[in-house]
Amino acid sequence: MNPFYDKLLRCYECLREKTSFEPVTAVVLGSGLGGYADEMEQVASVEYREIQGFPVSTVPGHRGRFVFGYVEDVPVVVMQGRVHYYEGYDIHDVVLPIRLMKLMGAENLLLTNAAGGIQEGMQPGDFMMIEDHITQFVPSPLTGPNVESLGERFPDMSQVYDQGIRKVIAETAKRLEIDLKRGVYIQFTGPNFETPAEIRMARTLGADAVGMSTAVEAMAARHMGMRVGGISVISNLACGISPMPLSHEEVQMAADEAAPYFKRLLTQVISGLSREL
Ligand code: HPA
Repeated sequence: MNPFYDKLLRCYECLREKTSFEPVTAVVLGSGLGGYADEMEQVASVEYREIQGFPVSTVPGHRGRFVFGYVEDVPVVVMQGRVHYYEGYDIHDVVLPIRLMKLMGAENLLLTNAAGGIQEGMQPGDFMMIEDHITQFVPSPLTGPNVESLGERFPDMSQVYDQGIRKVIAETAKRLEIDLKRGVYIQFTGPNFETPAEIRMARTLGADAVGMSTAVEAMAARHMGMRVGGISVISNLACGISPMPLSHEEVQMAADEAAPYFKRLLTQVISGLSREL
């Protein structure tokens, strides 16, 4: 038996002892964006530390719980705080929560994050819809024995971020008069911010925004056949593009300021998705 799959099933059983809620859409809230969960119609919540074997987030600004409830009548599970590779977890543990939400029933996954802007013209506070990603700097969560019941050994990644979801995000942003950037997200391991040379490399590779999460989660979700959407809040200009040194506080502050717009966008994307299905 695959030890990661074993752990996943144990976590699933543990979670099911606490709630029978069946979400349609799963949402991961990034740095500084966790407040969104406090405003939805909550049915239940489960702290990560109550789930046996579950990796617990240690990052300031990440709360560490699943919230179950409704956004405009759509059953959703929201992760208030995610698990990062830089916290020292095995990459398989990093994507365990994503797999867990799929086992609970979620078919759609909306990933959000705070990211550093690389694309010319980006400003802190901008939103970027993720159209594709580069994740070759981080180990793949699909390594090791493949669990066929989750997905195939060599999954196609030609369209990680679902066209239908992208259309809903773009139309919603337009309706809300939010200037939506689009681009490629590159994931580095962190926890250090990048050097100017690394950002020049990322730009040369075709990246528009940089972060320390999300791409591996999207990959695990695609492996399982989930439909994935991604939105980055540009919290800062990436190193070398901005003349200022970077700090986590800056990232959180920018996310806080973007929060009201983000809330409207996310709520309408979730309800838009349910109409589109
Ligand atoms: N680099 C990496 N991760 C980030 C950044 C950044 O500039 N901003 C927010 N998350």
